Amino acid sequence: MTHSIAELLLAWYDPQARPMPWRGHPDPYAVWVSEIMLQQTRVETVIPYFERWMQRFPTLRALAEVNQQEVLQAWEGLGYYSRARNLHRAAQVVMAQHAGQIPDQAEDLRRLPGVGRYTAGAIASIAFGRDEPALDGNIRRVLARTFNVDLPLRSPQAESRLWELAAQVLLPGRAGDINQALMDLGATLCTPR
Ligand code: ADE
Repeated sequence: MTHSIAELLLAWYDPQARPMPWRGHPDPYAVWVSEIMLQQTRVETVIPYFERWMQRFPTLRALAEVNQQEVLQAWEGLGYYSRARNLHRAAQVVMAQHAGQIPDQAEDLRRLPGVGRYTAGAIASIAFGRDEPALDGNIRRVLARTFNVDLPLRSPQAESRLWELAAQVLLPGRAGDINQALMDLGATLCTPR
């Protein structure tokens, strides 16, 4: 039953996914940068920042090696500057502790500065094809409506029910696309009003 929802989602998403410069990008670093920028900021706003960022710091190593001033300058205008500081620190941690390879498991990603449960699931599923859920604000709303989750939103009970549903709707091997289809549905059709 939940699987047929995934199939419907993919039938909607596959032919007409909104083009975004990080979609289909082969480099996990690019997916990571996009997910940190998208944490508090809309897709339309992020796109030009993402493109400038990737020109200025094209690799994780390039980012790890610059000083914080340069990083904050490239972030200027996006707000929530702790995201930029954490991303920079995390790049240095990956260089120092993971031989420059971004971890490919959600639980290892979560140990990096600025990577919470959502971001770890998003990177693991989108960049590494792992079967991980990623619950953000849009996906919370889509799942709550689809499955009639009648619990006070943001309550611990709703939170655990929604993570459970987010895992149940995934199809093996397609988690990254299903997560992004849910995000797009929440951003374009299943909107707050
Ligand atoms: N919001 C956060 N990550 C996203 C992604 N990969 N696609 C669309 N919206 C997003």
